[in-house]
Amino acid sequence: MVAVSDASTPNEGAGPAERPSGAPDLGPPQELPFPPGFFTRVDPLPDTMFYEHDRFVTHIDDRAIAAVGALYTELGLGGRVLDLMSSWISHFETKPDELVVLGLNANELTANKQASEAVVYDLNDDPILPFEDASFDAVTCCVSVDYLVHPIEVFSEVRRVLRPGGLFVNTFSNRYFPTKVIRGWTMTTEEQHGLLVALYFRRSAQPGLGWGEPVIELRTPPGTPGDPLYAVYARAV
Ligand SMILES: C[S@@+](CC[C@H](N)C(=O)[O-])C[C@H]1O[C@@H](n2cnc3c(N)ncnc32)[C@H](O)[C@@H]1O
Repeated sequence: MVAVSDASTPNEGAGPAERPSGAPDLGPPQELPFPPGFFTRVDPLPDTMFYEHDRFVTHIDDRAIAAVGALYTELGLGGRVLDLMSSWISHFETKPDELVVLGLNANELTANKQASEAVVYDLNDDPILPFEDASFDAVTCCVSVDYLVHPIEVFSEVRRVLRPGGLFVNTFSNRYFPTKVIRGWTMTTEEQHGLLVALYFRRSAQPGLGWGEPVIELRTPPGTPGDPLYAVYARAV
């Protein structure tokens, strides 16, 4: 994996992930084992330190951002929505009735023009969401699922706070902060990233708090220049 600097996000690596020789073959998603160290990171320090300085940047190009907004519109996201691992932009084409943004940088969150409430909260320190059961119509997480060190717990919590029928929509590209991404993400291919996020859905299902079949999509035209935009989403059932 070669980390390429992105002018808008100097610390953020970019480039298609390829499985280095010696990395585990993850196999079919249902049988995926999480190898030791899968959820560790180069920088083990608290995320609050990494995100304490403001980054008023975009993490993907304009086409990929437009693809996120178009997906949210196509899926009809609205009502009371939670944007996890958020910053100063949430990419909705139409502002939801109520948008709660949760992330680590207070200045970025309070600058988010679509947000009605900002919550500074470290999901890697405590994956329990500070919200009531069944209190959101939809939950989004844009270009950030790869930083979660307790993804199954977070997905389980997202299911708890979603109303039945609500969608949890993850979108991601092939860029990341190399010191903060989980090692498992760097050991797997772009195609496997979709399977991995789908696996998070499957493994986070609880009796009475399940998910419909996760949908994995490439939302930008394949083989074209620019940042690819992948989506993995599932409905609370
Ligand atoms: C790559 S940025 C993406 C921001 C935004 N979702 C977007 O689409 O531009 C990653 C975001 O995740 C948030 N984040 C990173 N680690 C986090 C954690 N442990 N808990 C909560 N938020 C976190 C940061 O505040 C940062 O804004």
